[in-house]
Amino acid sequence: MMNFSSRPTEEPAVHAQDLTVVRGPRTVLRGLGFTVPRGQVTGLLGPSGCGKSTLMRAVVGTQAKVSGTLDVLGHPAGHPTLRTRVGYVTQAPSVYDDLTVRQNLDYFAAILDPGRAAADRRREDVTRAIADVDLTTHTDALAGNLSGGQRNRVSLAVALLGTPELLVLDEPTVGLDPVLRRDLWQLFHTLAAERDTTLLISSHVMDEAERCHRLLLMRDGEILADDTPDALRTRTGSETVEAAFLHLVDRAAAQARTKETTR
Ligand SMILES: Nc1ncnc2c1ncn2[C@@H]1O[C@H](COP(=O)(O)OP(=O)(O)OP(=O)(O)O)[C@@H](O)[C@H]1O
Ligand SMILES: [Mg+2]
Repeated sequence: MMNFSSRPTEEPAVHAQDLTVVRGPRTVLRGLGFTVPRGQVTGLLGPSGCGKSTLMRAVVGTQAKVSGTLDVLGHPAGHPTLRTRVGYVTQAPSVYDDLTVRQNLDYFAAILDPGRAAADRRREDVTRAIADVDLTTHTDALAGNLSGGQRNRVSLAVALLGTPELLVLDEPTVGLDPVLRRDLWQLFHTLAAERDTTLLISSHVMDEAERCHRLLLMRDGEILADDTPDALRTRTGSETVEAAFLHLVDRAAAQARTKETTR
């Protein structure tokens, strides 16, 4: 296992510069610059509508009208070689209700890794992914008969199938009870520590920020901070990441007012 500081010169998993996204009539992301380091859990936090899902879609290459620089694992976002190297779970993940947990995974595994020769490896990947999300006892249950949290974990298992180097998870813990939430965060940290997976996880629940190695705090299409939770709290003189976020929001508003009056 590697530790973070042993690879200071390694390129980040994601590097963005002047990243801008237009959706309909609106510029939804405005000239963002940030990096996501490898092998760590980075939280993408901000209020509803600030642009988290848009940013994630840009990273996985499904967002239109993206300009600026956006490199993912050393390639431009959306590059074909990233298809199996990046796992993505959308905010409203879909699984097939009329298939069992294993059948759902078999289906996606076949798409990810087609060809008969791959069948054995696929079976292993599926079994491992089901175990990763702690659904082994539900392997043969129909997805339609699972709870909401269990269905979410099936989607997460799909994203884990190809042993992705980068996992992009859009609000994976929404609506989960505290025990499941804790278990999932434990899984995220295990993936980072033991498989060297990079995780980019969005949330609008600020207390989840404390569980991340690094944070990207967003508001209204812009990045307010790109830092560790500790550094954020320290430099804003705040006890919690939530308080630090509010501090940064107030400071940005004050700066905007100063700009207005000196114009
Ligand atoms: N198709 C679209 N056309 C125009 N604007 C859009 C479109 N889709 C999203 N938006 C706008 O883009 C902004 C960012 O949306 P996005 O879904 O990225 O936010 P979010 O941070 O993921 O929010 P949430 O926490 O509610 O999921 C929002 O203000 C939204 O209204
Ligand atoms: Mg969203």
